[in-house]
Amino acid sequence: MNESRFGPDRGLPKRVSVIDVGPRDGLQSEPAYVSAQDKIDLINGLIDAGVRHLEVTSFVSPRAVPQLRDAADVLKGIDRSRGAVLTALVPNEKGAERAVEAGVDAMVVFMSASQSHNLKNVNRTRDQSLAGFEAICRIAEAAGIDVYGAIATSFGCPFEGNVPVGEVVRIARAYRDMGITKLSLGDTTGMATPPLVAERVQALKADVPEADIALHFHNTRGLGLVCVYAGLMEGVTRVEASVGGLGGCPFVPRATGNICTEDLVYMLEECGMETGIDLKKLIAVSRRIEGVIGRSLPGQVMKAGHRLDLHPTDSVRTANG
Ligand code: COA
Ligand code: ZN
Repeated sequence: MNESRFGPDRGLPKRVSVIDVGPRDGLQSEPAYVSAQDKIDLINGLIDAGVRHLEVTSFVSPRAVPQLRDAADVLKGIDRSRGAVLTALVPNEKGAERAVEAGVDAMVVFMSASQSHNLKNVNRTRDQSLAGFEAICRIAEAAGIDVYGAIATSFGCPFEGNVPVGEVVRIARAYRDMGITKLSLGDTTGMATPPLVAERVQALKADVPEADIALHFHNTRGLGLVCVYAGLMEGVTRVEASVGGLGGCPFVPRATGNICTEDLVYMLEECGMETGIDLKKLIAVSRRIEGVIGRSLPGQVMKAGHRLDLHPTDSVRTANG
């Protein structure tokens, strides 16, 4: 047999940290409000399945994102006993103060690589966003809380088209200069392709070597997992996904869900990378949240099960004639 090109000996990481952003990115765009208790059950289910890093909510304006207006209540109900790292989006000082008060482990500041999306999403220019992060960092530092930086529209913008790689690098440098090195490259509208992923990860590694990069894809054009794979081949070890494939951004046209956490875990484990996540438990969580929101989610492994799940032969009819 040919030597396999998969697995840890062939340049892929041994272990990948899977970050579930479903409670935030997924639920923020659900048309119906999901109760704080249902959110807590979802998050605790994910933690029980082995997820150790979750973006649990946003401390943003409740007028901008009413679905997450219960952020503080959600934090109160989360199981902290297993050491899962809980992060939340924070757009301004008010959000930072609320996040400290609620007890998050890290705040995620966010801005877009493209000006038009930044204006739509947070009602300010990119430079205004960057200037505002200084104050958030001071609040976080005083509270002993970490700050991560997200860069939305890192692979393209629905209003501007291509986003120059230099813009992504410029923002990553500005984050680094503020002491923010845990970065997430967001593909808000599913415009990433494998060559773009390789280009951007390589550029960041060269220009901002301190950056610890996470990738955040939406499966809008069906390339989500292959983009993850491209990132893994460039040495990325942190990937964001959303349980069941929940998601979409309310501030972009025709946005669709994140890549699905179960599908990601299935791919990683089948390719020889460890995640520490129990796929069966994860699928159960996914099916439960599908019941809560009352519509079918795009996740595929949650429907088909593992490839080795067996079915009784009499479960389908025999084709004759
Ligand atoms: N938490 C709670 N309330 C907040 C808040 C926060 N972090 N930030 C602002 N507000 C409130 C203000 O108190 C004010 O309320 P009032 O009118 O009752 O006094 C109102 O929101 C407007 O505040 P302002 O500072 O003028 O903000 P804005 O209208 O320019 O909106 C943001 C800017 C950033 C607060 C808003 O656009 C936002 O929250 N965006 C988040 C978008 C998002 O989460 N996108 C998802 C990522 S893809
Ligand atoms: Zn997203």
